[in-house]
Amino acid sequence: MSFANTLLKWFREYGRDLPWRQTRDPYAIWLSEIILQQTQVKQGWDYWTRFIHRWPTVADLAAATEDEVLREWQGLGYYSRARNLHFAAKQIVALGHFPDTLEGIKALKGVGDYTAAAIGSFAFGLHAAVVDGNVYRVLARHFGIETPINTTEGKKVFTALAQDLLPSSHEAGICGEYNQAMMDFGATQCTPQSPDCMACPLMETCEAFRSGRVSQLPVKLKTLKVKERHLTYILIRCKGYVAIHRRGAGDIWQGLWEPWITDKIPHGAVLLQTNVKHVLTHRVLFADFYLWEVEERPLLPADYIWIKESELDEYAKPRLIEKLFSAI
Ligand code: ADE
Repeated sequence: MSFANTLLKWFREYGRDLPWRQTRDPYAIWLSEIILQQTQVKQGWDYWTRFIHRWPTVADLAAATEDEVLREWQGLGYYSRARNLHFAAKQIVALGHFPDTLEGIKALKGVGDYTAAAIGSFAFGLHAAVVDGNVYRVLARHFGIETPINTTEGKKVFTALAQDLLPSSHEAGICGEYNQAMMDFGATQCTPQSPDCMACPLMETCEAFRSGRVSQLPVKLKTLKVKERHLTYILIRCKGYVAIHRRGAGDIWQGLWEPWITDKIPHGAVLLQTNVKHVLTHRVLFADFYLWEVEERPLLPADYIWIKESELDEYAKPRLIEKLFSAI
């Protein structure tokens, strides 16, 4: 049996039953892919359900405010994804329909090769292979490929192979089903750590298994250590009100709210938490968090606003700030 057919047979028996697989609605599928770039299936499921209930169509999402979308996204991190999602919803509404070609889908903000192939194959049956971390791992192991996956050459080799392996049948929906199968196979059978090779339907043809290299593949070049940064936040509280401001354009936390950020700790500020670690894609943050109770509002930069402390919940905040606020 071919690689694709073995995988499809496995998927029909062991594939996961996920709500975004019960639909061909490109909006629902797109939403699931954007959320799942950011989190695991278990948590993503809850976010997807909330988004779909609140905004059942792309027009509903486009009509929301950016703040509402950011607040629904809260907790997932990497907020540019939520802003792109909202922006792309407006692109789709302006277009009049969900784009149904790879190029059209890729023209949506925040959609790259991987997401376009996923949406295109799941919703429209396009003949496009998804290539994500799971696919790299399955292919590197099964075909014994040592080309590092995080290089230009690696991307080329694995993308070409993935595309070659797509089922050639024109049976409706087969490419989408095969792509889902690859994802599930990577997520639940060909796992990063200690996969159960003895129970694998592809074991007999797996080059990594044959040569004892399962734990060494895929190869990934080491990248430089991520940078560390220290931050000091001061929550200024005055008669039940607190001061916050909104992060500006070109910032990873653009549009989100946070308390005063400074390296000058005012007299009387009380340290609530220190060295709270927060990991981002390209940075590790360490934050100190102070509470400063004052009788009169101090002078602050013009972009700060005073809000009732009880209304803090209504403002979208970076996850780090949520974490810090949990101490008060
Ligand atoms: N991760 C990304 N896309 C997914 C999907 N459609 N199903 C399960 N996990 C995924």
